[in-house]
Amino acid sequence: MRGKNIIIGICGGIAAYKIPQLVRLLKKRGASVRVALTDAGARFVSELALATVSEEPIYRSIFPQTESEGVDFTSHISLGEWADALVIAPATANTLARLSAGLCDDMLAAIFLTLRPGKPVLIFPAMDGQMFLSPSVQRNIATLAAQGCSIINPESGELASGLCGIGRMPAPEAILLALEEALHEADKCSPLYSKRVVITAGPTREKIDGVRFISNYSSGKMGFAIARAAAKRGSIVTLIAGPVHLPTPPGVERVDVESTAEMNAAAEKFFSNCDLFIGAAAVSDYRPAAPYEGKMKKDEEHIELTLVKNPDILAGFGRQKSASQLAVGFALETRTGLESARKKLTEKNLDLIAFNFFDRKTCGFDVDTNILTLIGSDGIVTELPQLTKDAAAEKLLEAIEHLCLKNGL
Ligand code: CTP
Repeated sequence: MRGKNIIIGICGGIAAYKIPQLVRLLKKRGASVRVALTDAGARFVSELALATVSEEPIYRSIFPQTESEGVDFTSHISLGEWADALVIAPATANTLARLSAGLCDDMLAAIFLTLRPGKPVLIFPAMDGQMFLSPSVQRNIATLAAQGCSIINPESGELASGLCGIGRMPAPEAILLALEEALHEADKCSPLYSKRVVITAGPTREKIDGVRFISNYSSGKMGFAIARAAAKRGSIVTLIAGPVHLPTPPGVERVDVESTAEMNAAAEKFFSNCDLFIGAAAVSDYRPAAPYEGKMKKDEEHIELTLVKNPDILAGFGRQKSASQLAVGFALETRTGLESARKKLTEKNLDLIAFNFFDRKTCGFDVDTNILTLIGSDGIVTELPQLTKDAAAEKLLEAIEHLCLKNGL
């Protein structure tokens, strides 16, 4: 569950009161949870309770409550992109009908429509037994099952009406178990599942003397987002990080380095036994030829620093990689640098390069969003819009997954 993004849709059934407990269980296991609550659901469980346990705002309507609220109107789309799985519990007859008809009249329905392909949808119908067995409900369930949703039948037992029969939502622990299994299966569907992925990230520092260095503005955010996205797919990830202030993504092995020489030495250890090497680090191309031992004094009016070239880590991997290994890089360029990116793709023998221009406001170094153009060695060019670095990492890994499938890896 660690690092997974889960959306729980809650509809208007008495079992809704059990969902805060499910949210708690998920959060304890390291998942991020967001809740989409239908209007009817809000009559059975409080928004405040759900917001408290999920530590997130609760999503209800696609539209802001008031014009002045300033809610991001596109959140119904970004939530669909964000989610690794959607759980609808309890699912009522009404919501089953809305979803099977493709309606988009509240946040839950919109998320259902915008979820990315391959992401598990688990639906837990819970209602009166006769209602559940009615031909209309069964028809809607069959439609949703045919679309790839997992329908988990309700259990038999005492119902809210006092009757006994089928209709009870499974306990939160059972929902958690079903979700864990579905996510595990979905992970195994990725060609990156159990692949050994090595990622360089962040800047490097080159010593001038004992207290000063040459470096750049890289924050490491892009490389860390890629590591997170790969780990979520079940890859075995090693992240070779320059000096950055970022937490290690869940399930990722991290090797901290400072200089390019250290990053190169750490990377070379994995050259022969990784399946995928992604160079996302902003590596210093040069280093001072002879770093001063102690602290340089400002005695001179002018000083000259002689710099020597550093090894190109990614090109080193590109030179020696086998047919079953993939090399992916970034090309940090000015806005018009697409051709230069293409040149790096060829010269470094890469399978894919992400052309990445920088303005330090919307893309490039030390910002939370990025604008990438992916160029494959097969000539396929994919222009991505401005995305969060997490979303850009997802797109990059989707492109790499296509490459894996194309190359039979
Ligand atoms: N790279 C690397 N080792 C280096 C320099 C770059 O591994 N010494 C990798 C980067 O991680 C990136 C790609 O090569 O994936 C391109 O880096 P970039 O800075 O865009 O280009 P350079 O090759 O350094 O060329 P230039 O600075 O002349 O544009």
